[in-house]
Amino acid sequence: MTTPDARPVTTADDGAGAALADAIGEASLRATQARSEQIEAQIAKDPSEFRMLTGDRPTGDLHLGHYFGTLANRVRLQNLGVETLVLIADYQVITDRDGVGPIEERVLSLLADYLAMGIDPVRTTIFCHSAIPELNQLMLPFLSLVTEAELHRNPTVKSELEATGGRAMSGLLLTYPVHQAADILFCKANLVPVGKDQLPHVEQSRLIARRFEERYGRAHSDRPVFPAPDALLSAGVAVLGTDGHKMSKSRGNTIDLGMSADETARRIKRAVTDANRHITYDPVDRPEVSNLVLLAALLTERDPVAIAHEIGDGGGKQLKAVVTEAINSFLAPTRARRAELLADPGYLRGVLADGNARAREIAVATLDEVLTAMHMTYV
Ligand code: TRP
Repeated sequence: MTTPDARPVTTADDGAGAALADAIGEASLRATQARSEQIEAQIAKDPSEFRMLTGDRPTGDLHLGHYFGTLANRVRLQNLGVETLVLIADYQVITDRDGVGPIEERVLSLLADYLAMGIDPVRTTIFCHSAIPELNQLMLPFLSLVTEAELHRNPTVKSELEATGGRAMSGLLLTYPVHQAADILFCKANLVPVGKDQLPHVEQSRLIARRFEERYGRAHSDRPVFPAPDALLSAGVAVLGTDGHKMSKSRGNTIDLGMSADETARRIKRAVTDANRHITYDPVDRPEVSNLVLLAALLTERDPVAIAHEIGDGGGKQLKAVVTEAINSFLAPTRARRAELLADPGYLRGVLADGNARAREIAVATLDEVLTAMHMTYV
């Protein structure tokens, strides 16, 4: 199977990220960035010191925004030899919506996206919340370690609440950072590659780990039950959608990993450009055109300025032809693989069953340690 080369690239920024950065604090963001660089250097030296946990909500098909934002980086870390767990966060789907939707189809489709893009189910444990009761049970002691006021202050929860258009906050939305701490801590992950928007969750997990230790620390051991996880600020690129806004399903501006070549061509044909026929790479003043150039550059591993220069007076039409060709040839092998995988749901279910069994073994051991530390082992 051919997998696209995953490589680290520099972090681009968007407006939402900047607003959240303000909420998190410039100084702590810079500190996390510096720490991320140290960690990258350590990974290069000895990847076996790390266990990484990441995940996604199964709410729809993955697109190029996900790929360049996070997935390529996960594949890179996996291939460097970092022990990797990937969570299909199915319980998190119901934090801010009323139902689970066509959940089974979405879980299998997300899994097919992962495998097609290079997550290796032999080396990497892929699992879902609903199959790991011991992970979910950690929510109880963990909830006792945070205050309601802290939960209300979480900037990620606040911005997600705003995005739901004024609907009332569910108890699960308010407390999902604690559930996410259980995701991270159940397997004692010390590495959580995230975007800026998820940093408060990692901070929440560190706090819970520390407070658990303060309250229940094991007298017989100087090793804490939960090591403090580090955020790894993703070496990802924010690519925009075809309308120049954040790539997101609800805007209809995505290029999905599993789209057909024709659908891709149609989406790119409708992509927003601007009145200047001469193509340049100028992300600040020409965000839409530059985003298309950037996409072509990332997909062909070339310099965006050189690509823009080549197109020059060829205009939007030629730019779109170049981007469409770049996307379709980059994704052709993985789309074929994805289709094969989806045609074999038995195989996909087997992969998930394996991953669930592996994750569950870890969760059982951790819950046992937790209950022992809490002296709740009378039977
Ligand atoms: N909250 C993440 C998202 O919406 C998904 C997620 C769930 C996650 N649990 C996690 C990410 C643990 C990192 C670690 O994308």
